[in-house]
Amino acid sequence: MNPNPAEKTENPEKLPKIEVRGLRKRYEGAAIDVLQGIDLRIEAGEFVTFVGASGCGKSTLLRCIGGLEHHDSGELKVDGRAVDGPGPERGMVFQHYSLYPWLSVRENIRFCRQLRVHTGERTSAEVEAASGRADALLRLMGLGAVAEAWPAQLSGGMQQRVAIARALMSRPGVLLMDEPFGALDAQTREVMHELIAHVHRLERTTVVFVTHDVEEAIYLGSRVVLMAPRPGRIDTVFEVPLPARRQPEMKHAPEFLALKRRILERIRATTGMDTDHELLERLSASAAP
Ligand SMILES: Nc1ncnc2c1ncn2[C@@H]1O[C@H](COP(=O)(O)OP(=O)(O)OP(=O)(O)O)[C@@H](O)[C@H]1O
Ligand SMILES: [Mg+2]
Repeated sequence: MNPNPAEKTENPEKLPKIEVRGLRKRYEGAAIDVLQGIDLRIEAGEFVTFVGASGCGKSTLLRCIGGLEHHDSGELKVDGRAVDGPGPERGMVFQHYSLYPWLSVRENIRFCRQLRVHTGERTSAEVEAASGRADALLRLMGLGAVAEAWPAQLSGGMQQRVAIARALMSRPGVLLMDEPFGALDAQTREVMHELIAHVHRLERTTVVFVTHDVEEAIYLGSRVVLMAPRPGRIDTVFEVPLPARRQPEMKHAPEFLALKRRILERIRATTGMDTDHELLERLSASAAP
């Protein structure tokens, strides 16, 4: 619910899809803010990627946007409305496949949580339309042949395609992805990159994508947001100087490699480690008898 009806009068064409201002959050009992002074504006249809040291608050920020976590102060709006819980206009995909093991692939996609909530209000035409969309998503994700299989019978890449299809089922304006391909092998990841870029073009969804993989972040994003830890904050926002439609060979382009180097150097600087070499020396020193 929108607590401020005046917000509805704003022109939706001019609104950012996601707007974060001065966001601060601290987990109960923690000595330091997990998120501090987060300012961010994401336009409709953008694909923005997030990287940063482990523990810098990437998942927490994503969960705040998804309405799964509360923030302590500051503003967080999606489509001009303050976020105060999850909603079908924001689909989420997590690193670990979170399918219902007792439902087939098709049922996992059709009977997503958001749909269940609204089932009581649905007309048979709406249910029919939902089935049509589920079938279309099954085809889009290349899952037609395994529609009746159980999640346990699928590979990791297939399970994650089901999770993405399920998140897309309610036609969310925003797709929030938290290291969705982190558990996949390199080849499957590449296939998934082309798939998610295709889905993004086709559905014109705004995508917020968290990853540990800087190359993945550059390849998929139009902007890469680098977060820094303790307190969790935005350090630098990098514009990706590549054409909107990415091709795998762009990963070898000088501007791609230069940006990758800049981001990796900055991540090292924000974690307080000058080089990997220094980290290894510290580890071996601490392991010495
Ligand atoms: N539910 C929670 N309660 C208390 N502290 C939490 C909770 N969830 C996360 N934290 C802490 O908040 C910090 C940020 O966690 P978060 O998971 O957002 O980081 P992250 O950037 O996603 O890390 P990673 O890259 O390892 O996934 C960490 O120090 C973590 O221990
Ligand atoms: Mg995380």
